[in-house]
Amino acid sequence: MQARRVVESVDWVGAIDWDRRLFDALIPLPDGTSYNAYLVRGSSGTALLDTVDPACAQILSARLAHAGAEHIDFLVAHHAEQDHSGAIPLVLAAHPETTVLATEKGKTMLVDHLGVPAERIRAVRDGERLNLGGLTLEFLHFPWVHWPETMVTWLPERRILFTCDLFGSHLATSELFAGEDAGVLLGAKRYYAEIMMPFRNLIEKRLERLTGLRPAYIAPSHGPIYERPEFILEAYREWLTAPPHNLIVVPYLSMHASTRRMVEVFVEACIRRGMRVEQFDLTDPDLGKLAMLLVDAASIVIGTPVVLGGPHPKAAYAAYLANLLRPKARFLSVLGSYGWGGKMVEQLAAMIPNLKLEVLPPVLCKGLPGADDCESLEALAATFAERHARLTTVGIPS
Ligand SMILES: Cc1cc2nc3c(=O)[nH]c(=O)nc-3n(C[C@H](O)[C@H](O)[C@H](O)COP(=O)(O)O)c2cc1C
Ligand SMILES: [Fe+2]
Ligand SMILES: [Fe+2]
Repeated sequence: MQARRVVESVDWVGAIDWDRRLFDALIPLPDGTSYNAYLVRGSSGTALLDTVDPACAQILSARLAHAGAEHIDFLVAHHAEQDHSGAIPLVLAAHPETTVLATEKGKTMLVDHLGVPAERIRAVRDGERLNLGGLTLEFLHFPWVHWPETMVTWLPERRILFTCDLFGSHLATSELFAGEDAGVLLGAKRYYAEIMMPFRNLIEKRLERLTGLRPAYIAPSHGPIYERPEFILEAYREWLTAPPHNLIVVPYLSMHASTRRMVEVFVEACIRRGMRVEQFDLTDPDLGKLAMLLVDAASIVIGTPVVLGGPHPKAAYAAYLANLLRPKARFLSVLGSYGWGGKMVEQLAAMIPNLKLEVLPPVLCKGLPGADDCESLEALAATFAERHARLTTVGIPS
């Protein structure tokens, strides 16, 4: 277990978690993940920036030993979530000289969530600078990416911005630095969709402060380091602020193929009218993929049969998740098959109060869709096409 050089005086001492497949008991990790921790050594002081998930604590210790970090003056805790803070108690036990630096809120949370003794933590102000001897750490509070206590650190002498979860990707890789291939971009987009999208308005407002620093490197706490920050900054600008695309996402499921038949008719009708469509089966879904589709989609159409008076529980789950993720979508509708009745549409509508979008009239049909139902589905597709055309006039990409 060796430390790896990022730039002069800065070493990576994190852990690559190749085998992890689930995060927060929710998020699928098809490509594993990593927990990046960085050691910054000035002539008069040493700082460790974040730690690792508690399951990987021994890896961090081994890399610190390899780096010869006998004395750690400061441990910068950007974020109190355990995948970065979980090994703080171990580091503090091994290093009685270490002071933890966090925001005021971070200090409270480290006490509450990890039992870190309050006297070992010093709160830092927004913009506060710490001189390590020839190297300066500047702490910039950046709340709500994705918890309220978060901050980032700027190392001006090396022009490195340490952003913790922001700009991260769940990607286990032996590469310390990110290439600019589709895999890296997709990993970052998946991470954005799952973790950052609900906070996109706040991030957008505060992003300028970071881009204004003109960093040479962005070093997040998951996934590879960006040697050309513009690559990830451009992607974030697009995801955060670009108008939604000419794309309809159709999360759906069907027990006995009636709703599936409706979805097929609707999807064909949309394609014929020039819209991009993603038909997404919710039976055994990769919810990260659904979240990624929601980054760009202008419209969402949920397809579900009526089950015990409401939507199928898996459709309800998808609607609930979309509500939490707060995507940009502007239009929504519902389609599905029923046997005798229920309140499926009302129940789904009640699950999405966060989504400020126009709800287009749903199409429900008894049993298999007949000719009238297919006409209604065609009409619904035509309404979506008309709405999307309006977006197109203000520059909607397809
Ligand atoms: C477990 C179960 C519960 C159901 N509950 C309802 C219900 O409460 N109200 C209703 O109208 N139909 C109910 N149905 C009937 C289905 O909505 C109907 O068969 C529908 O056509 C199924 O669509 P699908 O082929 O897309 O699965 C239920 C069916 C199943 C299997
Ligand atoms: Fe986090
Ligand atoms: Fe994290």
